[in-house]
Amino acid sequence: MSTLRKELHERNRLSWNAATQAHNSHKRDQAGFLRRGGSTLCKEEIALLGDLQGKRLCHLQCNAGQDTLSLAARGAEVTGVDISDEAISFAAQLSIDSGIPGTFVRSDLYDWLPHAEAGSFDVMFSSYGALMWLSDLRIWGREIARILRPGGRFVIVDAHPFMMVLGEKLELHYPYGGGSEVHDPGVHDYVAAAGTALTPMGFEEGVKDFKNPHPDASFQWSLEEILMALIRPGLVIEQYVEYPFTKWRAFPVQVAGPDNNFFLPPEMPQIPMLFGLVAAKR
Ligand SMILES: C[S@@+](CC[C@H](N)C(=O)[O-])C[C@H]1O[C@@H](n2cnc3c(N)ncnc32)[C@H](O)[C@@H]1O
Repeated sequence: MSTLRKELHERNRLSWNAATQAHNSHKRDQAGFLRRGGSTLCKEEIALLGDLQGKRLCHLQCNAGQDTLSLAARGAEVTGVDISDEAISFAAQLSIDSGIPGTFVRSDLYDWLPHAEAGSFDVMFSSYGALMWLSDLRIWGREIARILRPGGRFVIVDAHPFMMVLGEKLELHYPYGGGSEVHDPGVHDYVAAAGTALTPMGFEEGVKDFKNPHPDASFQWSLEEILMALIRPGLVIEQYVEYPFTKWRAFPVQVAGPDNNFFLPPEMPQIPMLFGLVAAKR
């Protein structure tokens, strides 16, 4: 049975349109950064993705395309898909301005996935705050398995479901999995909140005290639900990794550490905050 909540996705589109403008306002000369060989990718996904030379790669929920174009610069032929109008028009312009080719499609993932050709991608990729916006993981996993070519791989690095149950003070606050809905005042300006950690191209002051006028709705998924969404349609989990840090400031108590990552203070017990996996189509 489908749990699709397209009306909530539409609400999120507005929230992401507003937030993406604020996020990009803090990033200095993005086209010049990419043109000079700069990359917004982190070593975690680079390690899981491996060699991309000549690969047809689909970046699901690509936002404003910085990671997508960084993947193209590693030799992949890239297609990025995202629901946000603002993100996709920014990405298309960034491709032109940086001279790095990429195809960008504005669509709810659930409208695009069923129309993508079976076996048409070698690699499908998604990262950092993606799954929480998806209201049906069964459709997502089934379509990824269909669209990958045999021998292809799906790679994701995203928020660990353990962390997703915690509130601001690390208290048990949200339900674990089940697709439970979480309603928030709107996608916030986590780029500004991360200081310079999310702006390898240089930080601009940009929009100050951003308040998103559009509320958002997200969905809680358990590790079982994520893994089984991929395993059920026949994908094989080849790698699974956990990381004790985030790339953005998820909790006020976090401290900045190596590689622009945010950790719990060292005197506290450490927990998994991100996970990464590679699922192969045999
Ligand atoms: C945190 S961002 C992902 C960032 C991304 N890893 C990058 O390279 O910048 C989450 C993205 O999911 C997109 N999104 C949310 N719901 C979606 C949906 N139903 N279909 C497609 N994209 C969606 C948002 O517009 C947003 O750009």
